[in-house]
Amino acid sequence: MGSLREEDLLESRKEREGLYFHLLKTLDGSYSASSSSSEKMDQESMHSSQGAFTETEYIYGEAIQFCLEQIQHAHFVNLGLGIGYNEMSIFCRAITRLPDLKESLSKTDFQLLDRFKIKITSFELHSELNQHFLDYLKDDCKNPMLKKAYDHIFSLYLEKFELTAIQVKTYALALYDAGLWRLQEEVLANYQSLEKVNCYLFDAYSKSASSELWSPHFLESFLEKADDKSILSTYAATGDLNRALRSRGFWIHSRAGFAFKRQSTWAIKGLPKELPPDTL
Ligand SMILES: C[S@@+](CC[C@H](N)C(=O)[O-])C[C@H]1O[C@@H](n2cnc3c(N)ncnc32)[C@H](O)[C@@H]1O
Repeated sequence: MGSLREEDLLESRKEREGLYFHLLKTLDGSYSASSSSSEKMDQESMHSSQGAFTETEYIYGEAIQFCLEQIQHAHFVNLGLGIGYNEMSIFCRAITRLPDLKESLSKTDFQLLDRFKIKITSFELHSELNQHFLDYLKDDCKNPMLKKAYDHIFSLYLEKFELTAIQVKTYALALYDAGLWRLQEEVLANYQSLEKVNCYLFDAYSKSASSELWSPHFLESFLEKADDKSILSTYAATGDLNRALRSRGFWIHSRAGFAFKRQSTWAIKGLPKELPPDTL
């Protein structure tokens, strides 16, 4: 994940005792965020400084699309929620795949959800991010800074997929209310109970900030939850990740990284070895 320049720092706000969120603008105009335990402390941002939205769609959008095309009732696992780009990408792509689902969502008819039951598990260390995102979907986000970021992320996705906010919010909340989208907190404490995973969106901070999440032990154990048909995509490429993937039967394609990153990782198991594009 890239670090952002001082002048890109738009706002900072004390979220609660000891935790600060910062909102940052990236080169494609989309917002990224970072969190830190002191207002002055520079913390890793959640996305590449070259474009949060563009990076998300390149690294995770392609994997989400591939998974939706290949697997019915897929289970997506996102580590971590952050400000919700990956979840938005899943919601919009899932709605778009069923034209009649798209139509009926404007009439708030949930029947069609039965025909297109995906599952999502989102992990997020900062539980307030889970709550604010959920509140936003219910039109009740009380944090102006995050609301500004969510509004912008929504505008980007709604334009790209020609959807309305009400369609996405209705679909997301229907999944949530049906227990099909679960918002969980710290991953290390909660991943053991995961059901079989079809799509890992491995969007943890880098090894220097989150060393445990890149350790061979955690990676192997986390990937043990992979279904016979599964895919993992991440912005990073590391030897430990490759070894863990191989040990769990994945085929690895080292894909070009986003912006200044040399490599990213696209790994599949039991699925066609179709390669994603190396550019958007
Ligand atoms: C690179 S950001 C993810 C960005 C996010 N996908 C988005 O679209 O905004 C990494 C996220 O993982 C969260 N995180 C860090 N350690 C975690 C842990 N142990 N368990 C769950 N989430 C964690 C961070 O709080 C942060 O929100």
